[in-house]
Amino acid sequence: MLPSGQTDYQDACSTMQVPKSGVFFTTIGSQEVMLARDAAGEIVAFSGFCTHSLGKLEGGAVEDGEITCPHHGARFDIRTGRAKTPCPNLPRFDVKIEGRRVLVRPSR
Ligand code: FES
Repeated sequence: MLPSGQTDYQDACSTMQVPKSGVFFTTIGSQEVMLARDAAGEIVAFSGFCTHSLGKLEGGAVEDGEITCPHHGARFDIRTGRAKTPCPNLPRFDVKIEGRRVLVRPSR
């Protein structure tokens, strides 16, 4: 039994789809997922919903390791999910690599 609020790992994308500097968005169920690479080049995953007002971050401009929400301009570090403007950090999801597939375990 998984802890409350967690789902099992689900296939998100290929490792090749996550750029060295930039983001890749996908959807797992109703959860938007933003994938990027941390400072060591490891793939990391965060909620793709902005913590300001739950708008989709997809389509936001990425520059100098930050994504700017296309709705009202909140900014987040794409490697850590840390908010650069006054709103909560992006929820981080567990990632597992199997072969060339990226598996993500989103929280509910
Ligand atoms: S929803 Fe992202 S800044 Fe408002």
